[in-house]
Amino acid sequence: MKKIEFPKDFIWGSATASYQVEGAYDKDGKGESIWDRFSHTPGKIENNDTGDVACDHYHRYEDDIKLIKELGLKSYRYSIAWPRIFPDGNGKPNPKGMDFYKRLTNLLLENGITPAATLYHWDLPQKLQDKGGWTNRDTIEYFQEYSSFVFKNLGDVVPMWFTHNEPFVVAFLGHALGSHAPGETDTAMSLDVAHNILVSHGKVISLYRDMNYNGKIGIALNLSHKYPASQKEEDVKAAWLSDGILNRWYLDPLFKGSYPKDVIEHYSRRNINFTCSEEDLKIIKQPIDFLAFNTYEPEFVKYNEETEFVGINSELDNLEKTEMGWIVYPQGLYDLLKRLDKDYGKPNLIISENGAAFKDVIDGDGNIRDDRRINYIYEHLASSHRAIEEGVNLKGYYVWSLMDNFEWGFGYSKRFGLIHVDFDTLKRTIKQSGYWYKNVIENNGI
Ligand code: BGC
Repeated sequence: MKKIEFPKDFIWGSATASYQVEGAYDKDGKGESIWDRFSHTPGKIENNDTGDVACDHYHRYEDDIKLIKELGLKSYRYSIAWPRIFPDGNGKPNPKGMDFYKRLTNLLLENGITPAATLYHWDLPQKLQDKGGWTNRDTIEYFQEYSSFVFKNLGDVVPMWFTHNEPFVVAFLGHALGSHAPGETDTAMSLDVAHNILVSHGKVISLYRDMNYNGKIGIALNLSHKYPASQKEEDVKAAWLSDGILNRWYLDPLFKGSYPKDVIEHYSRRNINFTCSEEDLKIIKQPIDFLAFNTYEPEFVKYNEETEFVGINSELDNLEKTEMGWIVYPQGLYDLLKRLDKDYGKPNLIISENGAAFKDVIDGDGNIRDDRRINYIYEHLASSHRAIEEGVNLKGYYVWSLMDNFEWGFGYSKRFGLIHVDFDTLKRTIKQSGYWYKNVIENNGI
């Protein structure tokens, strides 16, 4: 078979997020986060699971870094828990919280692993939620205060930063659908949240530039390529609208300094009138060093009279699906990469999450033969490679996730890891996909 070889310096990594792996939810002065509050509310999470202990990464990070090293990862993407640093959201910092991330970062560096840190992966301090959370513009200032403190402590040693992880999910699942913390169900509110998050992103980009660090900074969006279910005009329009709501609502202000008109009109037909100031749009459109995105599946979309568009992936019985019910369709990644390249001025791109949940079982001989995950990653790397060959500036790829962890509303029922975690004993076991990925990294290709 012909070898697929990636560019020299391609970043091979894997990712986690604080609330999903750390545990130690009330240790060493950490404040309550909205995810602590949400998961402690009965009925919100499958099986009433919580992140109280999760993978106990907070206490086991040294062993986990040994595993990262064993896998040969070039980079590890983790997130910083804001309420560990500022238990009240702002004001007095908690040195013990900051110290954890310094120890973690330094140990990564000592092992030759590039730290890649996300400032916000959803665990807002509950104290700030009590004042309105992301609906309150003061949170933008608090995010700057928190980020500035983190930069002062880690800015010299962390070369790669992500301001936010998936603003769409925070806005939509957290404030329109209510399936994520803080559990609000108001679409108009969700648009204000998305906007305030984008403004906070822009302000933190400027802050980072003003502080004169040498690293690179960007944002991690969740993007999906949208295909019309048929070539009928109404389906083509529906897919474009759905693209607007998920993708362009974030990409356009970041790169073009405006929100997509067709989506604003869609909302106004539903009596939601979105406006914002020119000043805010200027702030959002700060040049970023890279656009990172998390992607799992594309979506097929058709017209629906009531909602104007509807996703139909669940009806696609002929396609393979993961444990999340998500379709396996690697062409979607190729099409997405090409489209970002074409429509947004050939940005540097990073796939900050890609991966799949499957029902992994440990064999009698102690192995986890997760062939379907290997195949998923293989196919998505092949799609990525094809795009790179055609000139797309893709710089890196992070598997979601380093290890099985707390999968938000699904609790511990979904396993995405390259490393298996037994949630009774917290024992870690590298899956076959982990060994396979190690090999890919060693060969810089497949
Ligand atoms: C998130 C992760 C999550 C993963 C799988 C992304 O939306 O950033 O935190 O676990 O997808 O659902």
